[in-house]
Amino acid sequence: MEKVSEIVCESPSNIALVKYWGKKPVQIPTNPSISFSLTNCKTTTSVKLEDKKDSGNKFAFTFLFEGEPKPDFHPKIEKFLERVASFIPNVLQHHLIIDSKNSFPHSSGIASSASAMSALSRCLYEWEIKLTNRENLDIKVVSNMSRLGSGSAARSVFGGFAMWGQSYHYQGSDNEFAIQVPDHSDFFSDLQDCVLLIDKGQKKVSSTVGHDLMNGHPFAEKRYDQAQENLAKLLTILKGDDFNEFAELVESEALTLHAMMMTSSPSYILFRPNTIAVIEKIREKRASDNLPICFTLDAGANVHVIFPKSVINNAMDFIERELVGYCENQAYICDQIGTGQLVTIL
Ligand code: DP6
Repeated sequence: MEKVSEIVCESPSNIALVKYWGKKPVQIPTNPSISFSLTNCKTTTSVKLEDKKDSGNKFAFTFLFEGEPKPDFHPKIEKFLERVASFIPNVLQHHLIIDSKNSFPHSSGIASSASAMSALSRCLYEWEIKLTNRENLDIKVVSNMSRLGSGSAARSVFGGFAMWGQSYHYQGSDNEFAIQVPDHSDFFSDLQDCVLLIDKGQKKVSSTVGHDLMNGHPFAEKRYDQAQENLAKLLTILKGDDFNEFAELVESEALTLHAMMMTSSPSYILFRPNTIAVIEKIREKRASDNLPICFTLDAGANVHVIFPKSVINNAMDFIERELVGYCENQAYICDQIGTGQLVTIL
């Protein structure tokens, strides 16, 4: 093996347009989803390998987050290593030194599991390739490993648009790994995502619990069918240049995600009053000025404002004048569609 001391991966977060909501064991989505990867919201992870001292433990690792030991994260990493062990047997003969940091502030309310799990998966699989002297990395394996860490992470291994989950309408789509969406027009190739931080607090109900509540949900089957249809529609929309059609579908997906939460048992609400105020302003602006701007939501109160780069001046002017006042401490993060993972081998 060529001399390698450290493998570093920068991996982006992503924002879903058709939402993954509901899963079966182990990490199999109940419907397909599609997202685009971001540029600025990312995790940088470095992995070094040391000789394993025979501690008797199955996995040996040290985990640092932003330079500090984080024992709280250990159970999650152990569970992840257990799930991906068959892909990285040679790596797991070593003691792993994992050092991870996020580009976005800790308490921003931005989920980091997609970027964190995809960055770690890429580092570990790159190490396995080196240790076994192989030439080519199979990105499907990286996506599959990422999925086993966090479902949405499966999509973060690609730049641009990625879809994950079996779609009746798209050959090659798979429940175990994401694939890149190759066909889209130039109109959708430079989408911007301005994340309005309405509430930076910890979510009241985690995504894991939310996914679980889809089991036995009265509208689950209808929702899964709808996601299949919306995915097919969005793939067609992305080939054209009709922003209104795009907005209609993306906003309906976001509201449906929250409708599922509001109609589960127990029910819960992650919106804040300011979330709704912002949504209404965006819709009014689109209708009155014909500005191509729309929103989507994660499983939280923050609003992602999406628009093509061609209208960035008008859109940012509107956001700064009319929307930022609804954010906690006026905070927002500007981001845009990105090119995917970046790996450095040292
Ligand atoms: C609302 O990927 O965070 O962001 O698989 O349990 O880690 P786990 O869930 P996670 O769920 C994300 C849900 C979502 C929609 C999406 O990204 O598609």
